[in-house]
Order: sequence, then C-alpha cells, then structure tokens
Amino acid sequence: MASSGLPLLTDRYARRIESLRISVTDRCDLRCFYCMPEDVEWLPRKSLLSFEEIERVARVALEGGVRRLRVTGGEPLLRKDLPTLIARLARLPGLEDLALTSNATQLDRLAVPLRQAGLERVNISLDSLDPDKFRKLTNRDMHAQVMGGIDAADAAGFGHISLNCVVIRGQNDDEVVDFARLARERAFDVRFIEFMPLEHGTKWGTDVMVPGKELRERIAEVFPIEPDPDQDPHAPSRDWLFRDGAPGSVGFIDSVTQPFCSTCNRIRLTADGKIRTCLFSLRENDLLGPLRAGADDKELAALLGAAVATKEKKHHITDGLFVKPERTMSQIGG
Ligand code: 5AD
Ligand code: SF4
Repeated sequence: MASSGLPLLTDRYARRIESLRISVTDRCDLRCFYCMPEDVEWLPRKSLLSFEEIERVARVALEGGVRRLRVTGGEPLLRKDLPTLIARLARLPGLEDLALTSNATQLDRLAVPLRQAGLERVNISLDSLDPDKFRKLTNRDMHAQVMGGIDAADAAGFGHISLNCVVIRGQNDDEVVDFARLARERAFDVRFIEFMPLEHGTKWGTDVMVPGKELRERIAEVFPIEPDPDQDPHAPSRDWLFRDGAPGSVGFIDSVTQPFCSTCNRIRLTADGKIRTCLFSLRENDLLGPLRAGADDKELAALLGAAVATKEKKHHITDGLFVKPERTMSQIGG
C-alpha cells in the first residue's frame, strides 16, 4: 500500500514499477573499452543531484510502490561520502532491498562503512579473472585492487556477492568456466551478461555478442547445472545451481537473445536527475529542474507517474527498429 495514498506506479502494459536504480555519478576509475573513452567529459558538478534530492525522489518512488533501490554509477563509490547517502536511503519507509553495483576498486576501503550504513547487497562488475586481460578490457592496471575489494566485501558480511561479467567473444569468453569455478569455490553468484548495443563507439555486433545459451552449454559440460527453483520471475537473470550441491550459482542475463521486457519492473534515475524508463530510452524525463524550482512531493509523484506512463514496451535490438541511445552505461547507470 502506498503510504501517502498516491496511486501506484504502473505503466501502460500493466507493469508495476518496483525497482529504482539510482546513478550517483557518471565518473569512473576504469575505462572498460565498451563503456568509456579516455577523454570522456564529466557532467558539471552543479547538475548532479544532491543527497537530499536523491533521497526525496527515492522516498516519493517508494510511496508509489517501489520496493527496491539499487545505487549505480559510473562507479558509485567515487561519489564523496556515499555511505552517508546509503544510510539515508536505508531508513526510508517501504524499502525492502537496498543494493549497489560497483567495480570494486574502492571496496577495500568502503565495504565495512557501506555495510554499517545499511547496505545489504553488492553486485561487482568483473569481466576477467586474468590480470593482463583485465588491463586490456578496462584500460587500467587495477586487477589486484579489484580482487582485494571483492575479498573485503566478502569479509564485510554482505548477504551474498554477485559478480557481473559482460562476455565479449574473443576477449573473455574463454573464461566462463573459470568464473563458474570461482562461483563454486567462493559461494558467489556469477552472472553473465550479454553485451548490449549501449556501448561507446561501434563495438557491438552479433559476432562479438555471445548468446547466454552458448555459455550455459559450455559450463554444463564441466559442471552440471539445473535451473534454480526459487527464481524471482522479475529478475533479469535466469539462475542455475550446481547439480552436485556446490554453493554459488551461475546466472545468465540474456538481454539480447531472450529479452525480459515484458516483466521489466524498473526505472532509472540518472546522476543529473533524469528519469529513464528503459536502458534504451531515447527520451528522458527531467526531475532536476522541477526539484530545484520547488516542486512539492505531490508534483514529484505526478512527474514520476507521467514518466512511467511512457515506459517503452520493449527494446528493438533484434527487430531492425533499433536506435542507439546517446548515453552509454556510465551515464545511465547499469
Ligand atoms: N552491455 C552489457 N553490459 C554492459 N555494462 C556496461 N556496458 C554494457 C553493455 N554495453 C555493464 C558493466 C557492469 C554493469 C553496470 O553494466 O560491465 O557490469
Ligand atoms: Fe566504469 Fe562500469 Fe563503465 Fe567499466 S562499465 S568504465 S567499470 S562505469
């Protein structure tokens, strides 16, 4: 029940919006080749939502039926005092799940403060277990620091750790079995994400995108797996457990070959205060202007509702109608 009596956020296709992803910065300390050029231009500081503004949008969204918040970037840990924002979000009424997506470069230092601030889960982006390949993929020599960050998160007592791996043919697709082995050894949930045409430049193509099905088959040859019977139907990932009872899981986010648009229950808030109703949205709905012009909660709720009403039915990656959005993941929030 929405506590304020505001109508619940539901789109034209009867999808109830339950998840808000909040990007807190467009900055990053890695340069994953598919996401960020070296000479990227950052958003001007004054156009970033303040913690107060983020908290307000989150509160109004929760009153409209959102139950899950995920903090993203860029790299969210580069936002100054992030644990302070986490603590503020963690105590909002109606919140059932608070998570973070991070590249782990700063987790060594921040895992404990974040856990203490009330963060429940972390998803760590990691595309290679090999230091040399990691350097090639991210253009930074930070593999050891990232692995240390993962250890710190593991030790800090987060429920369970998810690793997200974007698979790119010819670059890291030979590592999928190693990732599955790591899932078993460390009780991690490793998710393989199909590379999406949301990249910097023109790197995407069906030749470099590895279908999740192929990865599943490669893993199953070495470690027999079976679908997780407790799968959340709204989760983008289809998770599989190891038949021999080993801990951990492997999941597949087959965004391109098996779109999950019909059950998508999420919207995104960019660091500069725009609501995006789809990763591939070509339009954005501005909240920054209204927030700074003094909109009250009711007006904000109406703006959120109007944005949700425009949520796209599905993406068009495979049907020939696709138009690539201007912003990459670092500016949208993964
Ligand atoms: N396709 C798939 N995943 C992507 N990410 C960034 N860009 C893309 C893309 N074009 C991933 C990052 C990270 C998460 C936030 O999104 O690697 O795991
Ligand atoms: Fe940074 Fe994530 Fe983009 Fe890599 S994919 S450059 S870690 S924002």
